[in-house]
Amino acid sequence: QTTQPDPAKLAASKAAVALVEDGMRLGLGTGSTANVMVQELARRIQAEGLKLRCAATSQATADLAESLGIKIETLDEIGWLDLTIDGADEIDPDLHLIKGGGGAHLREKIVAAASDRMVVIADPNKVVDQLGAFPLPVEVLQFGFETTRKLIRRALDRLDLGQIDVLQRLKGSDPWVTDEGNWILDLHMGIIPDPVALARALSAIPGVVEHGLFLGMCSKAIIGKPDGTVVELD
Ligand code: A5P
Repeated sequence: QTTQPDPAKLAASKAAVALVEDGMRLGLGTGSTANVMVQELARRIQAEGLKLRCAATSQATADLAESLGIKIETLDEIGWLDLTIDGADEIDPDLHLIKGGGGAHLREKIVAAASDRMVVIADPNKVVDQLGAFPLPVEVLQFGFETTRKLIRRALDRLDLGQIDVLQRLKGSDPWVTDEGNWILDLHMGIIPDPVALARALSAIPGVVEHGLFLGMCSKAIIGKPDGTVVELD
């Protein structure tokens, strides 16, 4: 039994996949919206015989793509990408993003940074005036985990951001483990008044592997609506 994809995610996915041209090197994002996109991409490859080279931002996406007949290569095998299409948890008017709700933001950021263009696909719920309602994921090394949590709290205090819960992401009662074997802290910010300052402060903490703020990386957001139309932000 096949379930129908969400119409907003499908509309955004179709519009993004329409940007793909024969011969392109592509980065494939992670999450439920990116999954719809991968299915659309597989359909186009089959219908048009497109020759593409694809890298995935997570093992889950690699598994899905390969199950649909899309060959996945490593980022290093491909070297550089023309376009990455990925989802997001929040998108602000400057196209700054929060990502990592699916725990894949480390590989997602490496892949996006190695792409000429990053196009984000989303439904209207992801568009916000200011980032921060979605808890900000921070991937942290297991070594010194509690020390890193303390250093994050101290950095948040220095930025005068008030009382913020810094919660370890769990899977059942076990730590959530990323594809790279690290753990995740979710920062319940509420609002992020200065994403650039926060990104800088988090990146300066040694045990922080990567945070989910994507600043100045996304060149276009395609917002799908439930009626099947899309709005492009760039
Ligand atoms: C994965 O780590 C995330 O960055 C996703 O891209 C993001 O959570 C969007 O996922 P959905 O499309 O499932 O909302």
